[in-house]
Amino acid sequence: MFDRLREDIAAIRERDPAARSAWEVVTCYPGLHAIVLHRFANACWRAQWRWLGRFVSQMARFLTGIEIHPGATLGRRVFIDHGMGVVIGETAEIGDDCTIYQGVTLGGTSLARGAKRHPTLERGVIVGAGAKVLGGFTVGAEAKIGSNAVVVKPVPAGGTAVGNPARIVMPAVVSKPAKDEAKREGFCAYGITPNADDPVSLAIHGLIDHASTQTQRVDEIVAALERLGARVEAMHSIDGAALVDLKRLCSSMDGKVTAEQEAR
Ligand SMILES: CC(C)(COP(=O)(O)OP(=O)(O)OC[C@H]1O[C@@H](n2cnc3c(N)ncnc32)[C@H](O)[C@@H]1OP(=O)(O)O)[C@@H](O)C(=O)NCCC(=O)NCCS
Repeated sequence: MFDRLREDIAAIRERDPAARSAWEVVTCYPGLHAIVLHRFANACWRAQWRWLGRFVSQMARFLTGIEIHPGATLGRRVFIDHGMGVVIGETAEIGDDCTIYQGVTLGGTSLARGAKRHPTLERGVIVGAGAKVLGGFTVGAEAKIGSNAVVVKPVPAGGTAVGNPARIVMPAVVSKPAKDEAKREGFCAYGITPNADDPVSLAIHGLIDHASTQTQRVDEIVAALERLGARVEAMHSIDGAALVDLKRLCSSMDGKVTAEQEAR
């Protein structure tokens, strides 16, 4: 239990630049209080003490402004920042390392009792302030939901959904190096990837990508030529001998090598 609490506190300190100490997190973060109380409510729910689970959940809502149904499943290191107005439905599932801001609803659109009515958030999803994610679909790992988005369809892993109704804006717009950079630097606070929209940074990353693709292609061509018997080292300094070598190779590939050609 204390291990879970310790990692919750560490996750909050990592993801909220405003968190200055563990003591501040323990005493001033309603998201943490709601999650700790939810663990108790969820244990009651699973033990079939349904009323007690609901009651604890309502007490937590009264104290924190965050309503988590006791039947909802929460992973590890989930962080609900600010939290006021968050509603998480009964069949919602939230993966490890997800971050949810104030005013988020993980809600349902169907009244079918016992059915999966609420969304599943896979690992590392960030849900912006005021977003509504409605329905029993999945939001893929590391996806981002923009603030105030209304999401009614699945979001692919790594995608970003914005607007009402939400559209996927940029699964590929953030270049891979920028994403990797963000990963190295840690959590992208508020879902914003550092330098992702800086045109100079994007251009440089584009050039690096291009250069590395070209290098890879050249390596593949060299490997193929070497397999066919060419002295590729010599070709670097395009001298006469190397050219002859290359010509011979091309001719042999065409199956047209003749003694005459060699003499020439
Ligand atoms: C969605 C989000 C994660 C995208 O951030 P990003 O990776 O930096 O993307 P950009 O800002 O470059 O935006 C990409 C496009 O989406 C649009 N967009 C971004 N956020 C949007 C939102 N919430 N609603 C509607 N459109 C949005 C931008 O206008 C832009 O559109 P364009 O390409 O037509 O110009 C971010 O804007 C967001 O909403 N984060 C949540 C922050 C939050 O809730 N903070 C609460 C702190 S208390």
